Amino acid sequence: MKLPDAALPILDRVDGGRVVFLTGAGISAESGIPTFRGEEGYWTVGSKEYHPQEMATQAMFQRAPDEVWRWYLYRLGVCRGAAPNAAHAAVASVEEQLGDRFCLITQNVDGLHLRAGNSLDRTCQVHGNIELHRCVDRCSAALHRMPPDFAPRDRDAPLSADDRQRLACPDCGGRTRPHVLWFDEYYEEELYRSETAMHAAATCDLLVIVGTAGATSLPVHAARVAARAGAGVIDVNLDANPFAEIAHELTNGLAIEGRAGEVVPALAARLR
Ligand code: APR
Ligand code: ZN
Repeated sequence: MKLPDAALPILDRVDGGRVVFLTGAGISAESGIPTFRGEEGYWTVGSKEYHPQEMATQAMFQRAPDEVWRWYLYRLGVCRGAAPNAAHAAVASVEEQLGDRFCLITQNVDGLHLRAGNSLDRTCQVHGNIELHRCVDRCSAALHRMPPDFAPRDRDAPLSADDRQRLACPDCGGRTRPHVLWFDEYYEEELYRSETAMHAAATCDLLVIVGTAGATSLPVHAARVAARAGAGVIDVNLDANPFAEIAHELTNGLAIEGRAGEVVPALAARLR
């Protein structure tokens, strides 16, 4: 894909500076993982993937832990069945080129960026990762890997006794929960590296935002902080969104309407 001419001076101005990518569900859409608010989104009433947002709350987990686990085990199967796409590969190639001048902030819990080659060190998974679970009683700070052989299951498959046993906390035997940030919870540095993410946004020379509708607080705050600090801001999305508005207000901002799988590799090639 040929980049819009307006992108070139913004990209070239980085010239040895720091680059942050901030991604949302749209970067994984071409890997076959539903977004949240798109036509077939998890939160879109009427979509075949529809689930009430309550499923992503601590309140629901306390009320009906098995039901919440059922949904996350279904999503785990969806994520494990997906492969990183060209956009994920391109973001990983930028880290390979830039090293410590790079940081990735992702809202996605699907783990596709890490599977594409981005490092845990330079990746802030600000909403967690569906491949990890942790003790409800926080008997330790440990994040436990989900059993690798959990077979993909139907969205309404009941939890078996064996599932419950294998999801038990390896340290205290108590209940565990998905390592995912829920709507009625808060960003915590220890769990989600949220402060690291905000610092990266405040000190970067270019922020590239891909595939997010900006419905959650940290990403929009990060984009505003980066813009105020004078960073270039490039938004890649199919639809209008708050990041495109921030980019439009800047002389070194640009909103590119296009698919992540097409636009991100072109941006990455110019950042080398
Ligand atoms: N290329 C680029 N953008 C795309 C593509 C694509 N192929 N497909 C969809 N998009 C865009 C949509 O237009 C939309 O703007 O990606 C965005 C996805 O928005 P959401 O579904 O709201 O997902 P996201 O922004 O990541 O949600 C943020 O909200 O529900 C919580 O924790 C959940 O991490 C999630 C957070
Ligand atoms: Zn425990």
